[in-house]
Amino acid sequence: MKDKVYVGMSADLVHPGHLNIIKEASKYGDVIIGLLTDKAIASYKRLPHLEYAQRKEIIENIKGVSQVVPQETLDYRPNLEKIRPRYVVHGDDWREGVQRETRQNVIDCLKSWGGELIEVPYTAGISSTKLNKAINEIGTTPDIRLKRLRRLIASKKIVRIIEAHNGLTGLIVENIRVDVDGDVREFDGMWASSLTDSTAKGKPDIEVLDITTRVSNINDLNEVTTKPIIFDGDTGGKTEHFTFTVRTLERLGVSAVIIEDKVGLKQNSLFGTDVEQTQESIEGFCEKIKAGKRAQVTDDFMIIARIESLILQAGMEDALTRAKAYIEAGADGIMIHSKEKTPDEILEFCRHFQVFPRRVPLVVVPSTFDNIYEEELAEVGVNVVIYANQLLRSAYPAMLDTAKRILTHKRAFECRENLMSIKEILTLIPTRQ
Ligand code: SPV
Ligand code: MG
Repeated sequence: MKDKVYVGMSADLVHPGHLNIIKEASKYGDVIIGLLTDKAIASYKRLPHLEYAQRKEIIENIKGVSQVVPQETLDYRPNLEKIRPRYVVHGDDWREGVQRETRQNVIDCLKSWGGELIEVPYTAGISSTKLNKAINEIGTTPDIRLKRLRRLIASKKIVRIIEAHNGLTGLIVENIRVDVDGDVREFDGMWASSLTDSTAKGKPDIEVLDITTRVSNINDLNEVTTKPIIFDGDTGGKTEHFTFTVRTLERLGVSAVIIEDKVGLKQNSLFGTDVEQTQESIEGFCEKIKAGKRAQVTDDFMIIARIESLILQAGMEDALTRAKAYIEAGADGIMIHSKEKTPDEILEFCRHFQVFPRRVPLVVVPSTFDNIYEEELAEVGVNVVIYANQLLRSAYPAMLDTAKRILTHKRAFECRENLMSIKEILTLIPTRQ
């Protein structure tokens, strides 16, 4: 009997480097590919372009592969202990960086049955990072973009969304990345906020922008990004209008719409009870959810129901009753909102929500209770965190200060220190070849 050779890989963008590893591995015995699941990949890097089933189909058909099994974690040990291979084969590029510990665990694990790690020299000149960049430049389709939010929710502990109100902010969300001790972080998608969409157009957040205007913003985001979009649908308007909005958004590849349970003149939630705002009846809002669900064409589009009970001081019981009713009506997710400075009431809601017999993804928008960490939200079962307005709120004071300096000094020299250089702005958006 041939020896078992285990090769763990993501195999999203298959390139000659992968083929080389498989070829080398097959010299030692029967190659079992431990194909990392979306969840395993998302635990340390960007969600793959291709879904697990698609990646499996590709890898199964590569010469030299005997079997493909799912590897559910970045850690190889659960699979290795089950399969007990004689060899593990991997590229030698994992000696440094995030995978260092994983590698050491593989070596230690193999030792217990006399197994061995074989490292194949990294194939020079090929980089998944470069391929990724090239793919992003090609762009995406509405269908792929739409599906991505559900995939992210299924794969990540918490999905991180931030507001984008034009092409430029969309580009920031698309491209910005920080590396904190080897942990590379980025945003997963965009929030098309009614507050920032309205404010950017010099209008109040009272559903005064019509859908055509909001959709034109979405088009601007679609032009230059590939990440998923969650649309702030305000109240959804009249039920008869909402059904049209759902189809428009779906067609554009928007992943989800969030509608809030208010009627009459909608004002921003963060005003709370300082202004007159009326909550919709449970029955009325359930009807709107149901009509929206009937209208949608794909299975993947999400209608998320936003509960305003805590904002309008209707109490926790009311919020929980509504959550159950909206889920019953077919909501694909619940957003619970609060304008308290501390996260206490949100956390209380989340804890109750966690033990609901029927649960859907939970969305939270920490604008006022901004001292809470993403890990704390994930711990109480929050699936999506939305940073709803921070980009515009940081841009406006900067622009105001610059305008004031020019007026004060009657020249632009004094605002230089605030500015990016002319060269930087000229080259910020490169010409596409
Ligand atoms: C928005 O961003 O427009 C929202 C969130 O709806 S909030 O402003 O907190 O109401
Ligand atoms: Mg809004």
